[in-house]
Formats: sequence, structure tokens, C-alpha cells
Amino acid sequence: MQDDLERVLFSEEKILARLDEIAAEITADYRERELTVIAVLNGSLIFMADLLRRIPLPLKLDCLSVASYHGGIKSSGDVVFRQVSLPDVAGRHILILDDILDSGLTLNAIRRKLEEANPRSIRVCVLLEKQIPRAAPIEADYVGFKIAGEFVVGYGLDYMERYRNLPCIGVLRKELIAP
Ligand code: IMP
Ligand code: MG
Repeated sequence: MQDDLERVLFSEEKILARLDEIAAEITADYRERELTVIAVLNGSLIFMADLLRRIPLPLKLDCLSVASYHGGIKSSGDVVFRQVSLPDVAGRHILILDDILDSGLTLNAIRRKLEEANPRSIRVCVLLEKQIPRAAPIEADYVGFKIAGEFVVGYGLDYMERYRNLPCIGVLRKELIAP
């Protein structure tokens, strides 16, 4: 798998060191609040597992499953919610966790959907943020790393459902991406 990478952007060690920092920030910010974390499947799974174990707060965890890519490397913009029953959101402070903020269409759709359930607040935490113009008006409150507008895989991020179990994050070799 690692041979399919053109280059490694973040080693596992570097990712975990950054998670220590974000977790400390989130812990400080939510110390006195009723926190519900909502992780967006499948991309945020590994990030979520490593991040939440670094946050010593009595939080609740739920997951949402959406699809917006339908297999390729560009967001289709049409976001399908595979899970319709909303988690414990009303009156709580919500932190949405996702792997990457790209066009923003997915996170914006999720945020709007959760707002309908009257949370006290909503913030967004992403491991990666692409430095590109967004197609939807959404910003992340906690960001692991900012990256250029390249397609990356590993540490939960996939290309056609592969590479999620790579421990690092890297750029996939161009010839492996279907035109
Ligand atoms: P958006 O709606 O364009 O912001 O896309 C959000 C989703 O697309 C993310 O949660 C990822 O699952 C996927 N995605 C965006 N960029 C990448 C990438 O570089 N590699 C792998 N998946 C990506
Ligand atoms: Mg994906």
C-alpha cells in the first residue's frame, strides 16, 4: 500500500502528536459543557478513535453516515444521509468530526441537518483542511493540518474504499487515479 504513495505528508507519529494538541484544546473548551461528538463515517473512524481517547471528558458519541463521492475523487455535491434518526442533539453542544474539509458541501449539509434538531452549539473539527475555495459556506473550528488541493489517502481517508488502514497520510501516485 505504502508503495502506491507518491509521497508521505504526515507520518503516524506526526499525526498523533498533533492530536495531543487538538485534544487538549477541545478538552479545555468543553470542560463545563454537555458535549456530544458526531463522527462522520467512514473517513473519520481512525481519527475519531485516536482523538477521543485523548479527551478525558464525559462526552457522548454518535456517528452519521453520508456519501457524497460515489467512488471518484471529487465531491458530487449531492449528499445522501444513510442514517436518518438523529443522535442526542437537542440542547447539547455538538462537535462534528470529519476527516477532511474539501469543497465543504458534505459538512455544510450535515451541519444544516443537525441545526434542525436545536443543539446549543455546533462546532466542526477536521483532521485535514484543503486550501481551496469552498463550494459551501463552512469553516472548521479545529483543524489538524492544512494541505494543498491534492488528493490524499490513509489514516481513514480512502480512494475507492482502499487505503483507509494506512497509518500515515500521503499523496496517491497520479497513475493510480482513474481519469
Ligand atoms: P467535500 O464535500 O468536498 O468537502 O468532501 C468531503 C468528503 O470527501 C470527505 O469527508 C472525504 O470523505 C472525501 N474527500 C475529500 N477530499 C479527499 C481526499 O483528498 N482524499 C480522500 N477523500 C477525500
Ligand atoms: Mg471518502
